[in-house]
Amino acid sequence: MVFSKKDHLVGLDIGSSFIKVAELQISKKKKTLKKFGMAPLTPGAIVEGRIMDMEEVAQTIRSLFRSQKIRKKNVAISTGGHSVVIKTINTAKVPEKNLQETITAEAEQYIPYDMEDVNIDYQILGESRFAPDQMNVLLVAVKKDLVAEYMELTASAGLNAKIIDVDTFALQNIYETLAGQGAEDIVLLLDVGASKTSLNILKANTSMMMRDNDSGTHQVIEQICTRFETDIQEAEKIMQSPLEKAPDPEAVTMILDEVANTWCSEICEVVNTFQSNTNDTRVTKVVLSGGGSYVPGFADNLGSELDVKVVTISPFEGLHLDGKKFSPAFISRVSPQAPIALGLALRRVDDK
Ligand SMILES: Nc1ncnc2c1ncn2[C@@H]1O[C@H](COP(=O)(O)OP(=O)(O)OP(=O)(O)O)[C@@H](O)[C@H]1O
Ligand SMILES: [Mg+2]
Repeated sequence: MVFSKKDHLVGLDIGSSFIKVAELQISKKKKTLKKFGMAPLTPGAIVEGRIMDMEEVAQTIRSLFRSQKIRKKNVAISTGGHSVVIKTINTAKVPEKNLQETITAEAEQYIPYDMEDVNIDYQILGESRFAPDQMNVLLVAVKKDLVAEYMELTASAGLNAKIIDVDTFALQNIYETLAGQGAEDIVLLLDVGASKTSLNILKANTSMMMRDNDSGTHQVIEQICTRFETDIQEAEKIMQSPLEKAPDPEAVTMILDEVANTWCSEICEVVNTFQSNTNDTRVTKVVLSGGGSYVPGFADNLGSELDVKVVTISPFEGLHLDGKKFSPAFISRVSPQAPIALGLALRRVDDK
């Protein structure tokens, strides 16, 4: 296909706490970061991935595009959480032309929603290890009303959503461009966001297990609100400032430690179950992203519990940056929150 600049989409990560936007210029030789920016959302505007205040979110997106001087309208967005179901299923090999029908029929038993209410997508992962006449298929079901909600949102922000991806896939997409991946590594790609945590265990860039749960920095915020009798905005300020500036640093440290411990236990449980279900396949590395990465001690704690190295993602690493536009301090500060928007910005209009 003839390469056209128009094919590139602006990556728009609509998180429940921060909106992130990224624009790349991609040529055969290099990928250049043109724009990256973030804007906080008013608490309650998005709850559990559902849009509660359409105008507020649209307004935040519009001003972010304006402040970043992004004129392109075609965007790739993503969703996650409860309204998205991702499953690896096993099904009989069938000719290509019957695939859609077979998988849709099979999907019914795995999806907890009425089939009328979801859009189904799939990707063949390969032949089953146990039965050569079977294949592994990655099944994705997204609720139609969620898709409609995000289409309405992007339209009211004056944008065109050309691709609706899944948060976990967008994260994997940027991760695959980064260096330092050993072919033998079993990597846990972890995103601890404001309202949800996503886990994706990868071997040679193929997902072996994906899972989302409800944990996130909202747990820290809720506890700060209760402890200091403040509102969410004030609690966010405390969370995002250096610890020594907190009204009672010791109390904040206790909250952070307690929540980080809960996250660690939940993550360890998922990893241990995965390891025992896969003949002791060991996770050899954890790559951490999302606002949860800022919680002091969390990465170290997780590393010692799992007995593996935990690194925070460096999602800009494979990109060409103009040092005058993006200072190292800025890049390092936004790195944990940037990967999904960057993964989305790698998408092209004609991608599936
Ligand atoms: N500098 C900082 N220091 C400490 N915590 C921070 C900092 N910046 C952001 N956070 C925390 O990270 C959270 C945002 O993380 P993130 O951007 O990953 O969430 P999100 O993508 O909006 O949420 P979700 O994906 O769950 O919908 C904020 O709510 C805040 O609590
Ligand atoms: Mg997020």
